[in-house]
Amino acid sequence: MLDKLTRWMQKNEESVSLDEFGIDRANVPRHVAIIMDGNGRWAKQRGLPRIAGHRSGMKTVKEITKAADEVRVEVLTLYAFSTENWKRPADEVDFLMRLPQEFLATELEELVERNVRVRMVGHENKLPSYTLAALQEAREKTLHNTGLILNFALNYGSRAEMLDAVQMISRDVKDGLVEEEQIDEKLFASYLATKDLPDPDLLIRTSGELRLSNFMLWQLAYSELWFSNVYWPDFTKHDFYEAIKEYQQRSRRYGALT
Ligand code: FPP
Repeated sequence: MLDKLTRWMQKNEESVSLDEFGIDRANVPRHVAIIMDGNGRWAKQRGLPRIAGHRSGMKTVKEITKAADEVRVEVLTLYAFSTENWKRPADEVDFLMRLPQEFLATELEELVERNVRVRMVGHENKLPSYTLAALQEAREKTLHNTGLILNFALNYGSRAEMLDAVQMISRDVKDGLVEEEQIDEKLFASYLATKDLPDPDLLIRTSGELRLSNFMLWQLAYSELWFSNVYWPDFTKHDFYEAIKEYQQRSRRYGALT
């Protein structure tokens, strides 16, 4: 466990050498998904309101997006708001809903320059108009970018996503567009919000919690899982690279023997 000073120094270090970490550039996970957890506890530890943790967590989003881009990850999915998070107090929900707008107001220009493509998964219908408008603008301005896909999971729930898929498939069967016998894993996946993305190779969850919390349950079937005790606002590039390094030591067998 790194002490607070080391962590602070790491966070403020400008450049991190990937070679120094022994990261094999030929075996970088294509898709990294992160459950960003621990903002509230980070704030509580400091006697601050929970929203201070979320604001600080937004800074980590900037840093980890940069790190993912530097290491040439293709897709970075960040679980920013779950379908269950509406149960939180209204002022916290309101704050969280304003974060994408705040983040994109300062970051969109750099994301465009870095050739990053912004996307989202999740139900758009319940999102406030300012949240949607910010994401829509980012989506449009980065639509033709070919670098890292920064995919925000916002008002996302995996069970809802799968039920949507089941309903759409049933409709298509009824309309004669799909034969019942055609329904296989590939077809099912093509009805999910992630249809044109590879499944996550690596899932990271911060803050010491060991749960999936209704996140990409279908897509994570064969992902490597990596848990960190660090609260999300304290999570650094170094932690991210550590996760990738450990991923590179794993032997992925997908149920086979070798
Ligand atoms: C979970 O921590 C975190 C969230 C529900 C929100 C995550 C959002 C961010 C990190 C900012 C997102 C930024 C953008 C740009 C969209 P928690 O509040 O459950 O923490 P706790 O378990 O310690 O209470």
